[in-house]
Amino acid sequence: MQTKTHTVHTLLDALPYIRRFYGETIVIKYGGAAQTETRLKDSFARDIALLSLVGMKPVIVHGGGKSITELSEKLGVKAEFKNGLRVSDRESLRVAQMVLRGEINAEIVSLLNDHGAKAIGVSGKDGAFVKATAVEGLGYTGEPSEVSSDLLLKLINDRFVPVIAPIAASLETGHPGFNINADAMASAIAGAIRAKKVIFMTDTPGVLDKEKNLLRSLNTAQIAALKEDGTIGGGMIPKVNSALEALDYGVDKAHILDGRVEHALLLEIFTSEGISTEITK
Ligand SMILES: Nc1ncnc2c1ncn2[C@@H]1O[C@H](COP(=O)(O)OP(=O)(O)OP(=O)(O)O)[C@@H](O)[C@H]1O
Ligand SMILES: [Mg+2]
Repeated sequence: MQTKTHTVHTLLDALPYIRRFYGETIVIKYGGAAQTETRLKDSFARDIALLSLVGMKPVIVHGGGKSITELSEKLGVKAEFKNGLRVSDRESLRVAQMVLRGEINAEIVSLLNDHGAKAIGVSGKDGAFVKATAVEGLGYTGEPSEVSSDLLLKLINDRFVPVIAPIAASLETGHPGFNINADAMASAIAGAIRAKKVIFMTDTPGVLDKEKNLLRSLNTAQIAALKEDGTIGGGMIPKVNSALEALDYGVDKAHILDGRVEHALLLEIFTSEGISTEITK
């Protein structure tokens, strides 16, 4: 009886958060770095199914950096980065598309469907809903320049959970398209569909200071200083930039969250303190 009462209390504790986010869109960037163990993938999928079934509208944008680099090495295509962004020649764009759209996207869709969400996989090329332009000096790595919200709004209003591979169409016809940093894809999409929240799930507790302590809250000026002195580097650069960009687009809140913690999403959304780094302007 005691455990049953406990279950009821737990559900009631969640009620204010369910009310706050009911019907709201939450964009979740599921970083390649967080997609590791089967146990964590299952816990992620259950969290998404739960969010969706209690009336929130999760939208997933996934990365896949580690897998792209792994397959590139096997195929003898060299992986190169500048400021945390991949440099893509024609061959590495092919590899990125194979891995992101062919493998990871399909895997996440199946996983979510197995756990009771209605997931559907798309990339920015589907209906050309994300069009991009080249980032200077990075070849076929682009940045989103036009995001049309129609397709996603149709899907989420029909209670589908869109799972988006960070590949975009080009503004030019006959162009092979672009590989997009998934953080940049997530913020552009969050802005276009007027998401309430964007959460970047990765493989660190959040943004860390020089002593590796978690920074619970960061604003634009603090982020600039941490980038300047090199505390924020590599893949964290596009992530904090994208978090700020999402806020500029009108998204209420941006978080950088540890995807290695079981049920990290529920801990973040259903508790007042959360566990992430919160980015504010
Ligand atoms: N100050 C910092 N605090 C935390 N992580 C940092 C910091 N500076 C750099 N990083 C690096 O950023 C990495 C996260 O970015 P990364 O691009 O590797 O992962 P991801 O974006 O989650 O995955 P993907 O790129 O596949 O979507 C961390 O693993 C860490 O090595
Ligand atoms: Mg990254």
